[in-house]
Amino acid sequence: MSNPSILILPGDGIGPEVMAQVTRIIDWFGEKRDLKFDVETDLVGGAAYDKHGVPLSDETMARAMEVDAVLLGAVGGPKYDDLDFSVKPERGLLRLRKEMDLFSNLRPAQCFDALADFSSLKKDIVSGLDIMIVRELTSGVYFGEPRGIHKEGNERVGINTQRYTESEIARVARSAFELARKRGNKVCSMEKANVMESGILWRDVVTEIHETEYPDVELSHMYADNGAMQLVRAPKQFDVIVTDNLFGDVLSDCAAMLTGSLGMLPSASLGLPNADGRPKALYEPVHGSAPDITGQGKANPIACILSFAMALRYSFDQGDEATRLEKAVEKVLADGARTADLMGPEDGTPISTTQMGDVILEALDASL
Ligand code: IPM
Ligand code: MG
Repeated sequence: MSNPSILILPGDGIGPEVMAQVTRIIDWFGEKRDLKFDVETDLVGGAAYDKHGVPLSDETMARAMEVDAVLLGAVGGPKYDDLDFSVKPERGLLRLRKEMDLFSNLRPAQCFDALADFSSLKKDIVSGLDIMIVRELTSGVYFGEPRGIHKEGNERVGINTQRYTESEIARVARSAFELARKRGNKVCSMEKANVMESGILWRDVVTEIHETEYPDVELSHMYADNGAMQLVRAPKQFDVIVTDNLFGDVLSDCAAMLTGSLGMLPSASLGLPNADGRPKALYEPVHGSAPDITGQGKANPIACILSFAMALRYSFDQGDEATRLEKAVEKVLADGARTADLMGPEDGTPISTTQMGDVILEALDASL
């Protein structure tokens, strides 16, 4: 049997730096755990635009459809700010999400004990935090038609459309309920049913799926603005949050910061299972390309490394090895390993991206 295949798309900014550490960890699993992967690397975002004039070539898109999992670093940067909208780096990422039909985006926000002091919230509010945001990723205002900027009389009008079908809501709701059953068995669904018809439909469909298929799971509903407030007031009240594409984008950045740094948060974007039972899948850190620190060895590789842990769990059925990697990360943090994003200005000298990779590899060795 051939090895499972991984397509690595490091992308722009700090993407290549953090991905270099993930590559070392993939190699470690090959050597020390006999978990071998066939890895290939390609371009996405601005890097793809520089070479091909588009942020994702058709060839790369085709490979992404064929491999068992895609790992992506980050896309975008100031160099590309003035590009036409249709070829902006972000369009490469959105094309992958849409064409792979990755409708369920899992964004866990977990507060490592060692970092509880570093959160901008009080320690007792975040310590032990473990929530999962399930963000719908292939529809809503990101993709709805009509869209565009056009002229009406003597001024311009910008238009985007929030649009959800029942089946789009139902499938992401199912994925949230399934996850909840493996965790705290609670789902909170967030929308704006008080002002948006799509929100009314969202609430209806989630309620119906709950009643007919998942009555054993506890379900609550919240307006998304209240949800944002509750996330910073008392985040531990949540287990799984399910929400649409745009609210999910905003709420997951907010949740990420509860954990101390955006540099800590991984994500998995999953589609429907293939014939072999594996879902189409793309794994990426929630953080962006961070052009302000690119090339300085300052970036925290942990979000990207934990994204690979999610790949081990959700694509390769290696939950124990995923836990091994997560525990290694937890251990180095407990031992005081800190990249610059995990320190205050008076806290001493941070370690570099590569040094963080070094200590995580040492912790993996120690786990054997
Ligand atoms: C995210 C990012 C993306 C989004 C951008 C880079 C297109 O913010 O994954 O949260 O808006 O979805
Ligand atoms: Mg975002």
